[in-house]
Amino acid sequence: MEKIISVEGFEVLDSRSNPTVAVRVTLSDKSQGLAFAPSGASTGEFEAYEKRDGDKNRYLGKGVKEAVESVNGEIARELLRLSCSEQRAVDNLLIKLDGTPNKSRLGANAILAVSLAVAKANAKSLKIPLYRYLGGIVGKEMPRPMMNILNGGAHATNNIDIQEFMIIPSKSSSFREGLRKCSEIYHTLGKILKEKGMSTGVGDEGGFAPNLNSDEEAIEIIVEAINKAGYSTDEIKIALDIASSEWYKDGAYFLPKRKVKKTADELISYYEELLDKYPIVSIEDGVAEDDWNGWQALTSRLGREVQLVGDDLFVTNTARLKKGIAEKSANAILIKPNQIGSLSETLDVIALAHKNGYKTVISHRSGETEDTFIADLAVAVNSGQIKTGAPARSERVAKYNRLLLIEKDLYK
Ligand code: PGA
Ligand code: ZN
Repeated sequence: MEKIISVEGFEVLDSRSNPTVAVRVTLSDKSQGLAFAPSGASTGEFEAYEKRDGDKNRYLGKGVKEAVESVNGEIARELLRLSCSEQRAVDNLLIKLDGTPNKSRLGANAILAVSLAVAKANAKSLKIPLYRYLGGIVGKEMPRPMMNILNGGAHATNNIDIQEFMIIPSKSSSFREGLRKCSEIYHTLGKILKEKGMSTGVGDEGGFAPNLNSDEEAIEIIVEAINKAGYSTDEIKIALDIASSEWYKDGAYFLPKRKVKKTADELISYYEELLDKYPIVSIEDGVAEDDWNGWQALTSRLGREVQLVGDDLFVTNTARLKKGIAEKSANAILIKPNQIGSLSETLDVIALAHKNGYKTVISHRSGETEDTFIADLAVAVNSGQIKTGAPARSERVAKYNRLLLIEKDLYK
């Protein structure tokens, strides 16, 4: 295996115009990998630490100069001493070097970008596509897009409390066909909003962000768009990311935009009503990251009929997923590599999930870049589902376009 001969960090911008860490790794055969750290807005409390300078004179305190300096200094120095570029060896070294449980010394943004860049450089060196490098000959399932076409919560300045309203094509479609249908529905939704005199401005993940009379009206308009685009709700389903950790305070849920208060039980009953009325197949973060009792109740009441995804609950963390498995909380996990901060740990939590019958959804962050790593990752681990926003805004579309190329490679 090749040796790492250079590790270079850069401060670049993400899709929200906030600085993020980019890393370029070069191997002894001159193969290079370039990777970027993404960044969340509705971040989970238990995520690995995203290191920002806090210097108010630069980028309003959001600079990542220090994280980049540790890539170019300490991290580069240690990696150049390694005799190979094997992923586990690299990631273990980075974790040990950081020395904290949540990567707070060097920053998970610095560590993840290095970890992903090493994987890309190794794939180049072996002259195989990244998905093949990550998944071997076993990784070949095209994911279905869970496409966020209407934004609310912390991702938009409208009056909608639920963060994400997504559409999902049925399993029978190829990726290409599914993407086409979803894109047509996205356009149709824009047209409907325009006809109703509503805003067609978009939120952080490219979905529309109109003001509506209720969160339910958002689902109704989406169903209208599905039908108007010529599809039925048998072939296109709906998924929600409630992101309810954002609402949770002192054991209750305060919906900040509508100014409503609900208990976990009332929230679950509300989801039951929605499930009766609409073709919803997946609910993410239906209750909060700290509300383990709420998660047990949610899972025992709805877990047989719908996918219940833990995002803030699990934060791509093996220890938290183990607790969830033991307590029968959720039946799926959202996978965001920057929540845990290295590729090896990301692959570990995916393997644990699959072994225990939990589904996985590979996911972007609301702050993204042109990096398409998660597209290859989704295919490599046969996740079957990917969340990467609306089919608009290039940082989202880049992942869809990468998947189109992968599908072509795999299935002609
Ligand atoms: P975030 O949102 O990237 O802002 O955390 C994505 C999500 O909650 O799934
Ligand atoms: Zn989420």
